[in-house]
Amino acid sequence: MAFVVAIDGPAGSGKGTITKIVGEKMNLVNIDTGAMYRCVTLECLNKNVKESDIDKILEILENINIELKKEKGENLVFLNGKDVTEEIRTTKVNENVAKFAAVKVIRDKITPMQRKMGEIQDVIMEGRDIGTVVFPDADVKIFLDCSLEERANRRYKQNIQKGINSSYEEVLESIKQRHKLETERDVAPFVKAEDAIYVDSTNLTIEEVTEKIIEIISKKKLEKNNE
Ligand code: DC
Repeated sequence: MAFVVAIDGPAGSGKGTITKIVGEKMNLVNIDTGAMYRCVTLECLNKNVKESDIDKILEILENINIELKKEKGENLVFLNGKDVTEEIRTTKVNENVAKFAAVKVIRDKITPMQRKMGEIQDVIMEGRDIGTVVFPDADVKIFLDCSLEERANRRYKQNIQKGINSSYEEVLESIKQRHKLETERDVAPFVKAEDAIYVDSTNLTIEEVTEKIIEIISKKKLEKNNE
């Protein structure tokens, strides 16, 4: 196994932004595992397949090709050869992804793909089950948390910037719903790994969280090199 940093945390914890910066600074390939579940969700929505239709989902999974590429400093997501970087972030996908991410056959397909990625290169992988299921032996495990209210606040501000019209209360409710689905599902529920280092980003800036995480990774790297 190469050097693996697992970062698990809820939506809105700043995970995506921070993982990208830390990956660049520490020369680790940044892997957004949520994007993979978003691709499967998009494909199912495009083909009108429901999360309960396991046979049809299996058919889709048999032929699916998901690629995470870095081009000109940008992280791009390709689904069956098509650039879907923007399309996987639409409200429709946001509203449906937690349901599809709870389907066992989907996780059974995606998890080995993620393991393969972490075996061939040094990675910083972000998601919900990286430190618990995908890489229980990761070199570094971080659980990046944030209060529900602050996460809703961040998402609400992002929406305004994107021109999406929704009230703070609506955003808060939708984040609560997704969190419930992710933490209460039977397969790979979103929980903190016992040995993960807990970082709370509620009252910290992106720079402060980045600095903290780089410090944690650097210390572990040094320890590993001295083993
Ligand atoms: O991080 P995100 O919001 O892009 O994740 C999209 C969805 O996928 C979200 O509902 C949680 C789920 N997910 C998961 O179940 N396991 C992962 N390793 C990553 C994401």
